[in-house]
Amino acid sequence: MIYLDNSATTKPYDAVLQSFQKVSESYYGNPSSVHSLGTDSERLLSKARQQASRLLDVRTEEVIFTSGGTEGNNTAIKGIALAHQNRGKHIITSQVEHPSVIEACRALEKIGFSVTYLPVDESGMISIEHLEAAITKETILISIMHVNNEIGTIQPVEKIGEIAKKHPKLFFHVDHVQGYGKVPLKLSGSGIDLCTISGHKVHGLKGTGLLYIKEGTHLFPLLHGGEQEMVYRSGTENVAGAVSLVKAMRMTTESYATGKDHLKSLRNSMISFLQKKENIYINTPETAAPHIINFSVPGFKPEVIIHALAEKGIFISTKSACSSKKPDESAILIACGLGKERAESALRVSLTYQNKLEEIQLFCTRFNEVIDQLSEVMG
Ligand SMILES: Cc1ncc(COP(=O)(O)O)c(C=O)c1O
Repeated sequence: MIYLDNSATTKPYDAVLQSFQKVSESYYGNPSSVHSLGTDSERLLSKARQQASRLLDVRTEEVIFTSGGTEGNNTAIKGIALAHQNRGKHIITSQVEHPSVIEACRALEKIGFSVTYLPVDESGMISIEHLEAAITKETILISIMHVNNEIGTIQPVEKIGEIAKKHPKLFFHVDHVQGYGKVPLKLSGSGIDLCTISGHKVHGLKGTGLLYIKEGTHLFPLLHGGEQEMVYRSGTENVAGAVSLVKAMRMTTESYATGKDHLKSLRNSMISFLQKKENIYINTPETAAPHIINFSVPGFKPEVIIHALAEKGIFISTKSACSSKKPDESAILIACGLGKERAESALRVSLTYQNKLEEIQLFCTRFNEVIDQLSEVMG
């Protein structure tokens, strides 16, 4: 089997599964319980928080554990909107955000907020000039992703952070779900107030993640109750999830250090294969993150190619997992102005450090076979 759908989700590392099992067995006490089983769990959770904060180079109290990217994005966006609406009701985001950002913004529009969805250029990039022009006295939040989940575009979040610093009244949130472990991002001193990370995109478990909340940033919590996670996320903590998340984050960071050139060479090999083929458009910009390659094969239904490849043991996707059940075109490619035909025929290959060059070569061979077979059937 060749798994090339790592932006949808990744296979958990063995060590992550082991740590989850070990902690679940030995530290099942509720961290809020006063007896020793509870305090042992509480201590382990604090240690996980410390380790996560060290990996991110932020303060321990600035990390809250969540169930993943969707929760992190909703907590950040709705949390800022509801807590600071008396200051203003305007939010800036982009047209190419993940649904967990776009739909959170749409929900806020229904209750009286106004949202600017910044357009993007052909490579999926927002313009800093557009962003600066969109800021008004009413703006309380900018939410821009780091790496796009469909085409891999890296947004200029460092520059946006500098702009955000000049507007101390607004908050800046970054969806770092696709960037973490692949494209480094400095948080402290960056102007970023909130940053979302998801565990299952970095070989952690589904249902794990964290949200960085810069000290002094106040949010209206989505979940009220026992006031766990600095009051921002009530509910008995998932200690095993937090410990396993930190393990996945550390292992992915180590893979970055030793494997970033390898990842780039896999990508380059895939791109040069695609470039040589006729009737294929590469949608991923040259400057994109090293793990996402998006391309269109006009005239072919992407689902048909995906099923044909899956029969040969190769797994890739159309668009992103969150919207790929809808038979329509990619909203991201439409926003990039690449046209309906390309938007309806897009495929995404997404890599991880564990992928091997031989797997890419085999993908290329099988892809050629599939296209030849389908061309014959179509006459
Ligand atoms: C950019 C981006 N943000 C957020 C999410 C949502 O993360 P999760 O699946 O952990 O809820 C995803 C998942 O595909 C994503 O790619």
